Amino acid sequence: MKAIEIRNKYLNFFKAHGHSVIPSAPLIPENDPSVLFTTAGMQPLVPYLLGEPHPAGTRLTDYQKCLRTNDIDEVGDNRHLTYFEMLGNWSLGDYFKKESIKMSFEFLTQELNIPVEKLSVTVFKGDKDCPRDEESAKYWKEAGILDGHIYYYGKEDNWWIAGETGPCGPDTEMFYDTGKPKCSENCQPSCDCGKYVEIWNNVFMEYYKDEKGYSKLKKHNVDTGLGLERMAMLLQGKETPFDTEIFKPVMDKLQKIQQVDLIESRRIIAEHLRSSIMIISDGGRPSNLDRGYVLRRLIRRMIRHMNKLGINLKELDSLIDINVEALKELYPDLEKNKEQIKTVIIEEKDKFVKTLDKGEREFNKDIAKLKQEGKDSIPGEIVFRLYDTYGFPPEVTKDLSQENGMKISMEEFDKLFKEHQQKSRAGAEQKFKGGLASTGEQETKYHTATHLLNAALKQVLGSHVHQRGSNITPERMRFDFSHDSKMTDEEKKQTEDLVNKWIEEAIPVEKLEMKKDKAIAMGAEAMFIEKYGDIVTVYKIGDISLELCGGPHVANTKELGHFKIKKEESSSSGVRRIKAILE
Ligand code: ALA
Repeated sequence: MKAIEIRNKYLNFFKAHGHSVIPSAPLIPENDPSVLFTTAGMQPLVPYLLGEPHPAGTRLTDYQKCLRTNDIDEVGDNRHLTYFEMLGNWSLGDYFKKESIKMSFEFLTQELNIPVEKLSVTVFKGDKDCPRDEESAKYWKEAGILDGHIYYYGKEDNWWIAGETGPCGPDTEMFYDTGKPKCSENCQPSCDCGKYVEIWNNVFMEYYKDEKGYSKLKKHNVDTGLGLERMAMLLQGKETPFDTEIFKPVMDKLQKIQQVDLIESRRIIAEHLRSSIMIISDGGRPSNLDRGYVLRRLIRRMIRHMNKLGINLKELDSLIDINVEALKELYPDLEKNKEQIKTVIIEEKDKFVKTLDKGEREFNKDIAKLKQEGKDSIPGEIVFRLYDTYGFPPEVTKDLSQENGMKISMEEFDKLFKEHQQKSRAGAEQKFKGGLASTGEQETKYHTATHLLNAALKQVLGSHVHQRGSNITPERMRFDFSHDSKMTDEEKKQTEDLVNKWIEEAIPVEKLEMKKDKAIAMGAEAMFIEKYGDIVTVYKIGDISLELCGGPHVANTKELGHFKIKKEESSSSGVRRIKAILE
């Protein structure tokens, strides 16, 4: 069964069971600066899982584009992926364990026709926070799971939370037996040998975890996630997702054009190409920080492996064509965005090629010197300098060191890299705050004007607009924001008019204090979510703007006077800059 058929069957099944089909949220979270990418279907639904009513009702289903980067270095083996699609169904205070288990069993055995002997399930064995989940075990037996196919595990396996804090609870996981022999007498679903593959996870969300511990949620929710690529692989009897229709056309093409035969590199290229395409299609652009850095790493790692296979980098164009062709049934937007995707990937490739040439020359100088000094290892400091000064990827330094028979300290590099990231974040905050450091009357007005401008740009240009920086003097304000193209005169005028309309409406500016999670759940804007403590200050301007911010602000928008855009220009790749004044 092809992936698209599995997806359609899933959505139709849950629709027939009273669920509303809701659209996939973008891969780049719209109102959640606390995470880099959407990592699970539940993530865009957090406000509703916390109690806000969802406009589509209490039973929801969707497919969600997800990206997880924690295993990025594992890609190349037979199973790890960064991008994946998660099929999910949710109950928001509606059904709970019994119905959820019944529906999952029915879908697997009747819609996907998986023989019941192939299914095993795991349930929570209980601990001080939450009792043993006998209920789920009972419902599985009632549904038809065979004796001896139910396993009890602890929090490490059967508890789900998206990070450190948030809605959570015990879960029950479903496993598919590939029919491979047991790796040992003790071989169980929790074993990593490949006999059992996890296919679906139903989370029974009854708790909320914060720094103090667990509290009960007002409503019992169900959150489930089924990995599409994995299911397609199993149902097609394939060994890896790379053998399914999702990856195969690109894998085949790579095999045709390669000079060197390395399956791991082919998988890395195919995997990273697909993830890059998906990120770019949802508005991501390469840069040196956070989201942009992930994309940059994916593209550059792909290029490195193309080099390793001796593939001409001009082939990128046709590889993108082939990949979009293979994915367009699942994601029709890709066709529309194809030219833009190509431009971004090819520009990044060109930058990288220059970087590689320069970096390799520097590396050769360093290594000659080290060898002269009789050293046999490359200090992390050099790896970091090559990265920091020339943008030379640490992975390439590692490869080259190995080729030169030198040891290398990647731990030391990681440490330096983390320090650097923290510094540049702090630096950016400093810049941000610096503009506000001397907050006289005029600066305070400009500060409130940035919130209005941010809100106006979102209305005029779209919800992809987020603040990237700001600088304020008593004479003017400067505001950087994410957006790809030059603003037209019309767009500038609309933005100005909106801000001035809100000023004329004399809207009070309210200062609220609340928990950070709540602010995020309410969709508050924030530029550096990490810098805020648990309790945050949020400034609310009517229904127009909600932003995490230290202030200060004027009490009412009418104090601002008349807003005027003086200049709109490019600041850096994917970031525009507006200079404006209050008259
Ligand atoms: N949110 C759950 C998961 O990601 C379903 O496994």
